[in-house]
Amino acid sequence: MASNQTADIESILNEGRKFPPSREFSSRAWIKSLAEYEEMCRRAEQDPEGFWAECAKEISWFKPFDKVLEWNFPFAKWFLGAEVNAAYNCLDRHLSGPRRNKAAIIWEGEPGDSRVLTYQMLADEVGRCANALKSLGVETGDRVAIYLPLVPEAAIAMLACARIGAIHSVVFAGFSAEALAERIDDAEAKLVITADGGWRRGQVVELKRNVDEALKRATTVRKCLVLKRVGSKVEMRRGRDFWWDEVVPQQSPKCEPARVDSEHPLYTLYTSGTTGRPKGVLHTTGGYLVHTISTMRWVFDLKEDDIYWCTADIGWVTGHSYTVYGPLAAGATVVMYEGAPNFPENDRFWQIIEKYRVSIFYTAPTAIRTFIKWGDSWVKKHDLSSLRLLGTVGEPINPEAWVWYNRMIGGERCPIVDTWWQTETGGIMISPVPGAIATKPGSATRPLPGISAEVVTREGKPVGPNQGGFLVVKRPWPGMLRTIFRDPERYKQAYFSQIDGMYFTGDGARRDEDGYFWVMGRVDDVINVSGHRLSTMEVESALVSHPTVAEAAVVGRPDELKGQGIMAFVTLESGRKGDERLKDELRQHVVKEIGALARPDEIRFSDALPKTRSGKIMRRLLRQIASGDKTLGDVTTLEDLSVLSRLREDEE
Ligand code: PRX
Repeated sequence: MASNQTADIESILNEGRKFPPSREFSSRAWIKSLAEYEEMCRRAEQDPEGFWAECAKEISWFKPFDKVLEWNFPFAKWFLGAEVNAAYNCLDRHLSGPRRNKAAIIWEGEPGDSRVLTYQMLADEVGRCANALKSLGVETGDRVAIYLPLVPEAAIAMLACARIGAIHSVVFAGFSAEALAERIDDAEAKLVITADGGWRRGQVVELKRNVDEALKRATTVRKCLVLKRVGSKVEMRRGRDFWWDEVVPQQSPKCEPARVDSEHPLYTLYTSGTTGRPKGVLHTTGGYLVHTISTMRWVFDLKEDDIYWCTADIGWVTGHSYTVYGPLAAGATVVMYEGAPNFPENDRFWQIIEKYRVSIFYTAPTAIRTFIKWGDSWVKKHDLSSLRLLGTVGEPINPEAWVWYNRMIGGERCPIVDTWWQTETGGIMISPVPGAIATKPGSATRPLPGISAEVVTREGKPVGPNQGGFLVVKRPWPGMLRTIFRDPERYKQAYFSQIDGMYFTGDGARRDEDGYFWVMGRVDDVINVSGHRLSTMEVESALVSHPTVAEAAVVGRPDELKGQGIMAFVTLESGRKGDERLKDELRQHVVKEIGALARPDEIRFSDALPKTRSGKIMRRLLRQIASGDKTLGDVTTLEDLSVLSRLREDEE
């Protein structure tokens, strides 16, 4: 919630270094100077609809739009009246020119196998998969859950859905059967696409088994399409489960793209909010494509011969917007890697960059911090001279990690684009435009043209330079979420009720004297673990569902590698004693309920949790305890934390 939290938003960074783009980079960039960027911003400010209509020319429309925007606060419609298809934009339109034989996807599996799909080959695979989906009864508007490892078929499945107007709902393969069931249920998915398993650090992740488990609970699924990836033995239920190999390859590669309305839903993607129940963020087609393709040019400065690698999994929005839709709509060559960065050894990423001559590399700060820990020698073994641009996403990057990234990976010649955005925004919102804006380590710099980001007080008043406040967006933008799937009230409540008349991001930020944005992290009950969003309530609900737990409070605490770690304060049912064994059991329980990404780093048993007189858990106090705040004295041995609440009541 946006209330009572401004005190948390203190600016702690004091980073003065500035890195202007080299003349060489700028001279070849799409946007060549600060003046050019500012001119675009001015145009967008004066005539936002005209500006976005101009950007929309990058997309192939079957039928042109007759209105750019309908803003019925807080519900937006973009490019009204137009007909479009996302798969057509990512595939067919490239086939009539030289891109037909260009590599669309260069994929490498964790065990070292690899595949290259040209645009023509990818288009044919998507056509076959789309026809297979139709033969399994999928129709326009149906929801399809995708629970796959990072293999080309993940992109193929997404594009096949888009081709026939079905709505995909990708669930990260690291989520548990429980979490999958919840997402399938909410989306009312009719079909699941999965694999026998996936590779992770040399081990098999049993995806089909998780699907079987989930389908005991989720009742809407009629059919299940199963890709053979690892060759492990799985159960196939007759009439429900079909091998990809037996259904897809014999289909015709030709499948007419559905001409869908610009506002036809493209996908839902579940993300954590402030409650225990994940939200199905809904994105539609036309505006989303315009936003993602525009940012490929503005932020990644994409050129025809770039080899572009975004390391995000397809299960997150970054994989949707910047591995699949943005780059493929822009006709890029995309590298995809299935596995872990330390398999078989710590230099796998650098090996891949060297092998495929990657020129644009986009990853998360948590990965960069891990690489620093592993040591420079892994990097130095490889020739990274093909790189020309680096990016980060998912969480604030600490200046030390930024400087290392710039020096060790970028050889001090590659601009770094620190891109701020969210599942809800659909595409990048605040980021350096690399040929135009001088970067400062730790700052996402300035909003992109057409994005009206601002830092304000709870009352919606802009704050002065270097004052902390809430990060908001004042005007609608084409890639924005349209609603929460089947829950428009929650959409209104979560994003448009916190600060009057504006989109509330949930982040705290400040703007410095140059107008640069410094995002300081969430101001709500969402935590960011290794760049993954988790709601503290979700972890709490998982803990409380264990029979020994009476009450639980979960907070984030600073973590050198993961950005934030998870600390759980747990009160047990009376008569139960907390010991190491129970801690392990509770950790396992959370993994089973949500997935390994939610495993608590530390569990502390307490006789009671600190609460206000009205019974609200004093989370700020717990956050202070979790971060080892010395002003509280040594509270690590205090078993009854409620004592503290009597001392701190006034502050919450
Ligand atoms: O807190 C911000 C942080 O990640 C949140 C969005 O998470 P998610 O929807 O999972 O999307 C992540 C990938 C787009 C934001 O509210 N965040 C994301 N990028 C940055 C960031 N924080 C600081 N700097 C960034 N560049």
